Amino acid sequence: MREEELKNSVATEFFEKFDCDKILGFIDFAVKLKLIKDALNFQEIYFLWAEAKQKITDIISMLTQLVLTIGKARTFDKILPPMFLGCFDSEKIAFIPYSDIQDIFYQNDFNWKVAPSNKETKEFKQIYAQIDQILNQSPWKTFVFDLEKDEKELKKFISENFVLGKTETSKLQIDKNNFITIYGKWLEVVKPTIAVEWADANKAGIIDGDFYLADLLSEENITIKEKISILLKTNLYELNLNVPHFSQSLFMRIGFSDNQKAYNQFWSKYERPPAKDYWDYITKRRDLLVPQDVRERKGSFYTPKIWVELSQKYLADVFGVNWQDEYYIWDCAAGTGNLLAGLTNKYNIWASTIDKADVDIIKDRIQNGANLLESHVFQFDFLNDDFTKLPKSLQDIINDPKLRKKLIIYINPPYAEAASSGTIIGTRKNKKGVAFHKTKEKYLPLIGNATNELSTQFIARVYDEIPTSKLALFSKLAYLNGANYKKFRKFFLAKLQNGLVIPSFTFDNVKGKFPIGFLIWNMEIKKHFEREELDVFNVKGENIGKKIFVDKIVSKYINNWYSEFYDNKNISIGIMNTRVNDVQNYNYIRISSDNNFNHTNIITIGNLIPSCIYFAVRKVIIPTWLNDRDQFLYPNNKWKKDIEFQNDCLAYTLFNNNIQTRYGVNHWIPFSEIEVNAKERFESHFMQSFISGQVIPNAYSSLFEHEEEKFCTKRDFSHDAKKVFEAGCELWKYYHKQPNININASLYDIREYFQGRNENGKMNNKSKNETYNALMENLRTELKILAQKIEPKIYEYGFLLK
Ligand SMILES: C[S@@+](CC[C@H](N)C(=O)[O-])C[C@H]1O[C@@H](n2cnc3c(N)ncnc32)[C@H](O)[C@@H]1O
Repeated sequence: MREEELKNSVATEFFEKFDCDKILGFIDFAVKLKLIKDALNFQEIYFLWAEAKQKITDIISMLTQLVLTIGKARTFDKILPPMFLGCFDSEKIAFIPYSDIQDIFYQNDFNWKVAPSNKETKEFKQIYAQIDQILNQSPWKTFVFDLEKDEKELKKFISENFVLGKTETSKLQIDKNNFITIYGKWLEVVKPTIAVEWADANKAGIIDGDFYLADLLSEENITIKEKISILLKTNLYELNLNVPHFSQSLFMRIGFSDNQKAYNQFWSKYERPPAKDYWDYITKRRDLLVPQDVRERKGSFYTPKIWVELSQKYLADVFGVNWQDEYYIWDCAAGTGNLLAGLTNKYNIWASTIDKADVDIIKDRIQNGANLLESHVFQFDFLNDDFTKLPKSLQDIINDPKLRKKLIIYINPPYAEAASSGTIIGTRKNKKGVAFHKTKEKYLPLIGNATNELSTQFIARVYDEIPTSKLALFSKLAYLNGANYKKFRKFFLAKLQNGLVIPSFTFDNVKGKFPIGFLIWNMEIKKHFEREELDVFNVKGENIGKKIFVDKIVSKYINNWYSEFYDNKNISIGIMNTRVNDVQNYNYIRISSDNNFNHTNIITIGNLIPSCIYFAVRKVIIPTWLNDRDQFLYPNNKWKKDIEFQNDCLAYTLFNNNIQTRYGVNHWIPFSEIEVNAKERFESHFMQSFISGQVIPNAYSSLFEHEEEKFCTKRDFSHDAKKVFEAGCELWKYYHKQPNININASLYDIREYFQGRNENGKMNNKSKNETYNALMENLRTELKILAQKIEPKIYEYGFLLK
């Protein structure tokens, strides 16, 4: 059995109730609690990280490789460690509590850089011996099962042990590397329960980080470190009056608003205090806990490891397996250096960033084994500073045309807009409102509004001042197709060598769901960007296909098309809210009876079919992170001949609109009185006549090829459309059996009748009437089927590009 197959079969056979990552960083196999909410909930709880081997292998070797893999990547700094480490081959599986092993990760003077699979290294042998000893010391804590013979026992073990709340067995140790990540979590959980006036405390120079330090450096809930501002005394915080310049008048004691519940739950996961060796370091680096740093420090703005690894794989694909030796790499927006993790040739890497504190952190990391060269790490404001400030080694490369071709600018630049405070990924400078950048001034005449985006300023400078180099960058994709980037695209002429897109919400703190790209550009080859296919990866890092990105300025949009059917000759039967052309405006697209004259269009007999097409096209495509910014386009002519498509869209719209009788006559009743057993005559028979071809239109748009046919003949509906009509008819019939009804009721009126409204006036999602709920559910199901039928035509007729 291949390793992949083995992993799949173990996952389905034994861990069906959980989410299994077939790869977590470099870890072969991981089992975690199924995410109940959506993927945005990134507080993942792992039960197992395991090594998988295709060949029969001894347990200690497998565990050794796993420990070396985890220690190298320091996975536990970012993700809370699992309850068990484990390993399996096609014969057996073994588990060992993480807490029994974790000391190994914190030993001094250990070189974690070695290849985990190389059994010959001194490090492998050392860890092997350590694990061997641990297993011998407490053999009762090692659980080994034969995958076939012990199937029952194994399943029982999993169901009894892979349970929330059992995690106490593996308390996480805090060290100088992870105390900021944990601070980030503490801010969310514990801080809100501390009953202090933060504004007053901040004025006196006390920050939330001081309370965190008081918690962190305590034993049995009593702070044991002396020279810090706030002290925890069991269930109260006190101001440390031994620290000069704090006056007692600020507060005497501060308690918890929730009886310390959140505090207790939070800290039960961590081992406190951390090892004494770290105390000084942690308190000295209180600066890292200053709020304005938080967003950068707590990992929010880091490129997640999974994408760092993937981007490096793409770089290797483009530049060859020896790319790290053959090329130079400069990350000029390095932050704390995440993007460079995993690179091997430190002599070819330079890292610069705007904040001195970040430079210090990278340097500190070097002391702790990060594979970078201290003289190649420096503070540099890429949007203001002159290249003469760069280290000579780097200047030599930039100034030599031959060497420059070998320079890869590998960055995840800030995504912030230069002038706005509502930033996605900001810089502190920006947040303070300092929007001035030399590059903005310089490139404004060349790329116009595109300078509003800091990342585009990075690209412009690289392109212009380091010409013919290579650019490999993470960024939003507006520069490929955004309307504000028209001028930029004329300026930036380069050949795309490879690229991928990933979901924005895999980056902590990024609001909104949209694609973020990693694109590799060869700036030696001048080429106008027109159309490229990029690989798409989902939140788990799985390749889920390709997507085309196009410079859409060349095209006209769906709203241009729809406006051609504007009709002021016939009476209005409804109002279409249109809004701009991209998918993300989904919720604004609606048909109603009240005209707010805000992005609206009148629906008449003259444009009813185009209106239904417009509506169906925009509603059938559900927004996702990937299509969010896609633009609906001016279609080709094929839709005109496809009567079935037109009728499908009509059926879809008839049972999916917000027409209400309280605004006037309802012209949208798709049935006759007889069909629904109505007790009275309807006020309008328009829709029924339109469907059965009885309307003789007078003046309407002449854009159709065979108007007579379309309006004067009976409409034949497809099987799927008929099913929608049938489901709708059942609903109408049921409604007309009820007391106190409105004979002319629209779909919306019917929904309101059964579902009612809550105290805020909002329509309830469901009714107490189960028959109605079932009928509605049935209608929705049929609509979904019809939508699936319409969807491919949306692409075929050019309303959207695949
Ligand atoms: C999106 S983060 C990327 C951090 C890190 N390279 C990574 O990939 O995880 C962008 C970084 O650029 C830094 N930065 C912002 N403006 C800068 C400038 N003008 N010059 C250099 N670095 C800057 C920010 O401080 C931040 O650390």
